Amino acid sequence: MKKYLVIGNPIDHSLSPELHNYWIKKNNINALYEKKKLNFNEIKNFIIDIKQKKIDGANVTVPFKKEVIPYIEKLTVEAKDTQSVNTIYLENNQVVGHNTDVFGFESSVKDIKFDLKNKKILILGAGGVVPSIVYSLNKMKVSKILIMNRTKKKAEDLKKLFNNLEIIEWGNVPESDMIINATSVGLNQNDNLELNFSNIKKENFFYDVIYNPTETNFLKTGKDLGNRVLNGKMMFIYQAAASFNLWHKINPSVNKEVIELLNR
Ligand code: ATR
Repeated sequence: MKKYLVIGNPIDHSLSPELHNYWIKKNNINALYEKKKLNFNEIKNFIIDIKQKKIDGANVTVPFKKEVIPYIEKLTVEAKDTQSVNTIYLENNQVVGHNTDVFGFESSVKDIKFDLKNKKILILGAGGVVPSIVYSLNKMKVSKILIMNRTKKKAEDLKKLFNNLEIIEWGNVPESDMIINATSVGLNQNDNLELNFSNIKKENFFYDVIYNPTETNFLKTGKDLGNRVLNGKMMFIYQAAASFNLWHKINPSVNKEVIELLNR
């Protein structure tokens, strides 16, 4: 039986096993996908286990997406340019690191037929998922990316990776075509960003990377102001589907039943 894992710390919250084991079963594959909490000093041996085929593939989540890179033998373009790996597999006896969050974000936006070309985007936050989002946005040829983060230094670090980012001060929400909440504010239902969104235009698009809870206060505000809203559920499903395809060479179905798996 093949063995797949998602590693992170903490890892209890991860719904990746639900998704992958569902698709594994649907496609009659002899495999099991589990979650594993790791410490920093265990990463090296974990990658060696993949090299030695004790593990057949892995997803990587917070806070290890960058930390795994020194032990990986080959990075795909997306992983290299975002300095972020969420999927690991063995190819020609080489441990390869890829980033399917890029595909996940792009697919979720295309899914609802929102054309990002020449749009002005505002990103809130500068955490682990932001490089993937910026890479996607650039790929979709947006005209401008503004970024604000409570800790400005982190936004400045990101600008070293993507020099087209325009850093703005945390607090004032400028006009844009799309606002993306990539902060962790909202993971608790009562969390509030305490930003004033009332000056933004109506046809804005509020996107929250968080999908649990389904509707953060950020999305609620967007909706109340008459804007389009989307949570991070489809991004999560599409990144998982892309990993699945890399490991099993099968494009898994993304349908209502799959989406329902995450409604808990
Ligand atoms: P990850 O581990 O995914 O990278 P992270 O680095 O903890 O997550 O990122 C969380 C993001 O939410 C950061 O941008 C963080 O801002 P800081 O860089 O200032 O920490 C942001 N964030 C968390 N709590 C916040 C709050 N109360 N107000 C504003 N931003 C917050």
